[in-house]
Amino acid sequence: MVRAFIVLEGIDGSGTTTHSQLLTKFLEEKGLNVHLTQEPSSSIIGDLLKKILLDENIPPETDALLFAADRLIHYKNEIEKKLEDGYIVISDRYLESSIVYQSSQTDDISIEWIENINRFVGIPDITIILDLPPEISLKRKLSHLKLTGKNKEKFENLDFLGKVRNKFLERAKEKGYKIIKSENSIESIQNEIQNYIKSQLKL
Ligand code: TYD
Repeated sequence: MVRAFIVLEGIDGSGTTTHSQLLTKFLEEKGLNVHLTQEPSSSIIGDLLKKILLDENIPPETDALLFAADRLIHYKNEIEKKLEDGYIVISDRYLESSIVYQSSQTDDISIEWIENINRFVGIPDITIILDLPPEISLKRKLSHLKLTGKNKEKFENLDFLGKVRNKFLERAKEKGYKIIKSENSIESIQNEIQNYIKSQLKL
């Protein structure tokens, strides 16, 4: 039985959602039990966060606290249970998004504080960072918004996403996360992700 907690992270538009879905399908086709999930989660706090992401007037500390609260429900009620049942859990974003996004919002938020308010949740076994220049990220996001008619979220601007990208890369170096460049075709990026996961899980 293979049991692992895998997380895909990256700036907006880097493809965490697409690649989490494709990876889930790939592992399921190998006969494995896989549970796909995402943050903000489907909890009541996750629903609130989706509205808050459109609101520029919420203090960043409130964002951080709500993401931590949502994550605790997500981990305790969903992720931990699925892992105990022998599933591979794949989460489209998790704790590194809080560390990187919320500490980029203001100098008043330290990484230590974010780690501290998130200290009750489990740590992923594998973290992959999908890396993309913010110019491409924003282009992808804006064309997606046009298609779906959705509103722009507060983090979707060039300077901020540049900061977030650099922090993801710094954290990856420090923590040994796998970095995968996300500019090529979906197929070749997914291939690289699958090869990495196969080697890590010894499939
Ligand atoms: P979403 O619309 O799901 O973006 P995407 O599809 O690009 O992943 O919203 C997630 C946004 O919330 C994204 O901008 C990252 C941000 N976020 C945080 O700031 N902190 C967090 O802890 C998490 C999980 C996400």
